[in-house]
Amino acid sequence: MLIRYILFLSVAIWMSGTCVTRAEQIAIIGTGMMGGALGPRLAAAGHRISYGTRDPSQPHIRDLVAATGESARATTHVDAVDGAAVVIIAVPWKALESVAMGLLAHMDGHVVVDITNALQNAEDGLPELMVDTSAGEMLQAWLPKARVVKAFNTVGFHVVAEPERAPGGVTVPVASNDDEAKAIVMELVEQLGFEPFDAGPLRFARTLERLAGLYRIPHWSGRRDQAFEYYFRRVAEPTPAEFPVLTRPRP
Ligand SMILES: NC(=O)c1ccc[n+]([C@@H]2O[C@H](COP(=O)([O-])OP(=O)(O)OC[C@H]3O[C@@H](n4cnc5c(N)ncnc54)[C@H](OP(=O)(O)O)[C@@H]3O)[C@@H](O)[C@H]2O)c1
Repeated sequence: MLIRYILFLSVAIWMSGTCVTRAEQIAIIGTGMMGGALGPRLAAAGHRISYGTRDPSQPHIRDLVAATGESARATTHVDAVDGAAVVIIAVPWKALESVAMGLLAHMDGHVVVDITNALQNAEDGLPELMVDTSAGEMLQAWLPKARVVKAFNTVGFHVVAEPERAPGGVTVPVASNDDEAKAIVMELVEQLGFEPFDAGPLRFARTLERLAGLYRIPHWSGRRDQAFEYYFRRVAEPTPAEFPVLTRPRP
């Protein structure tokens, strides 16, 4: 009886939409370094990929589709998101608003993953923020009916393509105001072999974009031998028994 109840519960949770099953359609808008790395990996995890691109006829995009697998296709932005369970927007920050506006009428209720970073080269050659808030929050404002999730902005395209380049694991922080959408994206992170970290509501996209700035310092300063990936090691939390200072009254 207990086993039947557990089975029923598992199926109910699975059907409630808080997980992304294999063989979902995932739209990837932009076929650059990140789009071109995420697509084949997500296809290998069992998903159907529809690339949204400005020009599907380009030879390198046809090559990407072929490398992604039989069920992949490249088409317009609007056509790519039609029927997609998740939409990943993988375009440069400067193109994000116009891409969002082009999809505005097609994004109601969609889980939209924002991987962008509103960063530019400062005069000293290092990254600097281009906005006071974050690309993630601005995308949510531009697409008010979408369920925007910030993720994958702190991991390199080459590590998405080949996770074994970062031995020991990679943590991918995920932030969103929509817990269900966040759970779906965290599951995708796991399916790619990374460790998802719940980074709270979407306002933490500000923190994640700053982490991306830190990540870029070795790349943009010519210290590539110091390039790193984020991995959040677990720690034994202090208890009041070990550290009585924790229970001392605060003034
Ligand atoms: N590279 C990384 O390791 C990395 C890591 C984490 C996050 N990110 C972020 O991910 C985003 C994409 O980075 P990326 O390295 O993949 O960039 P990328 O190689 O320059 O590719 C971006 C793609 O976006 C599309 N695009 C370019 N300009 C556009 C425009 N004006 N309007 C519409 N679409 C346009 C193009 O695809 P089509 O030709 O198919 O339209 C292009 O291939 C950026 O915001 C970046 O900050 C990058």
